[in-house]
Amino acid sequence: MLTYVMAFEQKRIGIFDSGIGGFSIWKELISELAGHQFFYISDVPNSPYGNKTSSFIRERSEVLANELLKENVDIILLACNTATAEAIDGLRNKFEVPFVGIEPFVRSIENIDLTESNFRPVVLTTRAMHESQRFKDLLLKYDKNNILTAHACDHLASLIEEGYKSGIKSVETKIEEELSPLKNSNFTHAILGCTHYPLISDKIKSYLNVECVSPCLPVSKRVAYILKSGPIDSRTELYFKTSNQENFETFDPALLSLK
Ligand code: DGL
Repeated sequence: MLTYVMAFEQKRIGIFDSGIGGFSIWKELISELAGHQFFYISDVPNSPYGNKTSSFIRERSEVLANELLKENVDIILLACNTATAEAIDGLRNKFEVPFVGIEPFVRSIENIDLTESNFRPVVLTTRAMHESQRFKDLLLKYDKNNILTAHACDHLASLIEEGYKSGIKSVETKIEEELSPLKNSNFTHAILGCTHYPLISDKIKSYLNVECVSPCLPVSKRVAYILKSGPIDSRTELYFKTSNQENFETFDPALLSLK
């Protein structure tokens, strides 16, 4: 008997973030879409986005999308909540390639049994995300009972960038200081509304004594769904550059985690 195996063709997937935050989704993507080619741009010369204006973030997002399109990517993932809030609608209007974004996983509270009286979620985001219209709309839509506390972390993404370069131990105290206003509020869940934060979810979990909720896995499944694709029997190729570099370089997946 002949068995037919569905063979997907190899796709080129473009990803960008203000820095290394998108690594949290990239980790998931390389198993959802093993065997494909990935092109990641970190806009670290312009990070953090969290304290920038909407027009600056929109401008940068367009530059980065254009850079990725030069690589003939089949899809672009905005691996950044802040850029999604400010720029994804404009990018979708301007370019033909499909865009997938990420936003704070506020809808996850829909699955929670609200009769559970001790449920106290907090959603952590950048300042720009916190103040964006998209975030306000998201809360109106999914937090009808006003159970969520929204908290902007002004320095957390930058501290995580610093920890990636110098080792997470070197910024541990500063991370604790940044999270300390949340420490004695008896939160039970932290929704991680910035892609940098899942990179330190163990730290957030232990310091605040909460469960962490992140949309990285569902978003990577969404990318596979839009591409109508899945893992293929080929070598996964990872390419990376910062926005001030001319060329992409091959990237070792072992570098996707903080040390
Ligand atoms: N990683 C980004 C996000 O998901 C942006 C962090 C920043 O640059 O402030 O919002």
